[in-house]
Formats: sequence, C-alpha cells, structure tokens
Amino acid sequence: MPKRTALITGGAGFIGSHLLEAVIAEGWEAVVVDDLSTGQARHVPDEASLEVVDLTDRDALDRTIDAARPSVIFHLGAQASVTVSVSNPTRDCEVNVLGTMNVLEAATRHGAQVIFTSTGGALYGNAAPIPTPEGFIPAPISPYGASKWAAEAYLVTWREANRLPHTVCRLGNVYGPRQSPHGEAGVVAILSHRLWRREPPTLFGFGKPTRDYVHVHDVTRALLASVGTAGTFNISAGVETNVVQILQALQDAAGTTLTPELAPLRSGELERSCLDPGHAAEQLGWRVEVNLQQGIEQTYRTLSEQFEADALSPDAR
Ligand SMILES: NC(=O)c1ccc[n+]([C@@H]2O[C@H](COP(=O)([O-])OP(=O)(O)OC[C@H]3O[C@@H](n4cnc5c(N)ncnc54)[C@H](O)[C@@H]3O)[C@@H](O)[C@H]2O)c1
Repeated sequence: MPKRTALITGGAGFIGSHLLEAVIAEGWEAVVVDDLSTGQARHVPDEASLEVVDLTDRDALDRTIDAARPSVIFHLGAQASVTVSVSNPTRDCEVNVLGTMNVLEAATRHGAQVIFTSTGGALYGNAAPIPTPEGFIPAPISPYGASKWAAEAYLVTWREANRLPHTVCRLGNVYGPRQSPHGEAGVVAILSHRLWRREPPTLFGFGKPTRDYVHVHDVTRALLASVGTAGTFNISAGVETNVVQILQALQDAAGTTLTPELAPLRSGELERSCLDPGHAAEQLGWRVEVNLQQGIEQTYRTLSEQFEADALSPDAR
C-alpha cells in the first residue's frame, strides 16, 4: 500500500520540526514547505524532503503541493512574532492570511485536510474570561492575532464550501527543546538563554503577565489527534502561570539566583491568558501529559546543551 503523505508548512521551525519527527515515526511520507526565515534546514531529517518555498509565492507553492499530493497539510508556517506584526502588519497579513488561503486552495485540489495552528494567547484579548472557551468571540490586540483570526475564518469558510474536515488548533504558550531564544516570544527559551549565560533576565510586565504553558510534545500529540476531525480546539494545559514562577522553575533547573530586571509590557502583549482545553479533551481525547515543572527542567537541560553546541560552532545557528 502506498504511504500516506503529510505536508508540513513551517516544518523547519520549532513546533513543526517536532511534529515532523512524529509524523515520520508514524510511517508517513513527509514533505516540508518552509522559507527558512526563522526555521533551520538542520531541523529537517533526511527522511523528509525540504522545499524552500515562500507561502506567499502561489505558483511555487502550487507546484510543490501538486507534486507532493498530500492527504493532510499541517499548516504551521507563519509570521509568528507579535512585535514584527506591529512593525510590519502588511507582511504579517500577506504570510498569515494570503499564505493560508494559498494553502487552502491547493488543499482543495487534493481533497486534503488542513490542520492550522492558530493562537489562543493572542486571539482572545484582555477581556476574555479565564479560562477562555473557544466560543468566546476573539478580540485580538495585535495584528498577529487579527491575521490568525482572519485565517481561521477563511479555513472555516473553505471547510464548509468544500466539505473537507479542516481543523483549527489554538495553541497556548508552547515551550520545549529547539525553541529559539533569539525571538521576542518563547519566554522559556529566552530566560533559559539568559540564565545559561549567567546574565540577569528581563521580566516584561514586571513579571506579572500570566500565560498557559504547554510542552511541544503535547502540542504534537494534539496535532496528530486532529487528523480526520473537523473543529476548533484550544490546545493548552488550562493552567495560569506567571513569568516569576517560570523564572523560579528555570533558576532551580539552572542552579542560579540571578535578580531579574523589571520592565513594562510591550505593545500588543496581553496581561493574562489561559485557555479552556475541555473541548479538545472531549472531542480529541487529548490531555496534557507533560507536567510544567518537569517539562521546564527537561527543556532547560536540552536547551543548554544546544546553546553549548551553538557556541562551539556559531555557523550552525
Ligand atoms: N510557539 C508558540 O507558543 C505558538 C503559540 C501559538 C501559535 N503558534 C503557531 O505555531 C506555528 C509554529 O510556530 P513556532 O513557534 O514553531 O515558530 P517558528 O518561527 O519556529 O516556526 C514558523 C516556521 O514558519 C516558517 N515560515 C515563516 N514565514 C514563512 C513563509 N512566508 N513561507 C514559508 N515558511 C515560512 C519559518 O521559517 C519557520 O520555520 C505558527 O503558526 C505560530 O503562529 C505558536
């Protein structure tokens, strides 16, 4: 029997590369579409093929998807930075909205399901109830949140029009090995890098903002559990944790007692965020497996090995 093919946009990135490993381990043929703007070719193992294509280049994307003939497209490729979305909302919109529409159009030709990673954190806004259910009407406060919401709307419209079981996974604050410490998001990776360098970390929002942290292993399981289902799901732990608590867990793992510098929140950032994952538990049979304390310890260990290796061969970054 021919192998099923999964195409992963953003498969050279943090979450995409973990998903890629899982998809290969499940016996799928895997094709990655990535422009390597934040992802890295070294994250794509030899078993997968890497197509360096920009999602906004519709002709190149069509050629790649038509050649791969996937049965599922995991669509993770995105302009994923809130700060960049504020400074360049046009590019954010082009990649996240038009890029998603390009993926949906190509998926329709192949009857492929699209599983889209949206954001739980940036979508619901500051007035949302805690924990926030999927039924709360989004009120994003950044262009990134707006573009993800617009992309969701296109996905739902294409799902109804083409009778394909497209799925939206609204992710919480994802952390884990391979996350870059060089962006503005990814607080666990950023703080880990500071502690590894024995430099005082900066806590925005004076350490008070809360997030709903979920390990990349659990996100990968949720994306795989979404194959063959249609719906919109919050994918997170449903637990509110502030940045001071994250820093404490990391300091314990790193064996440091550095005093943080405190700074106000940056533009587009939320004060509180916590998602209700009940719908994913009911419909996908999915629950988090990785406990935050253990996940943070394991992540610090793996990230510090990665920082060590990168320091020895800086070109690898
Ligand atoms: N990390 C989180 O906490 C989090 C939370 C909610 C949602 N998400 C979503 O999950 C997905 C993956 O995020 P991540 O944290 O792994 O980020 P990432 O930056 O590591 O991954 C994004 C990938 O998309 C690629 N990409 C960007 N623009 C592209 C374009 N125009 N064409 C082709 N490829 C392009 C990048 O090179 C990168 O490999 C994104 O859609 C992001 O919005 C992430």
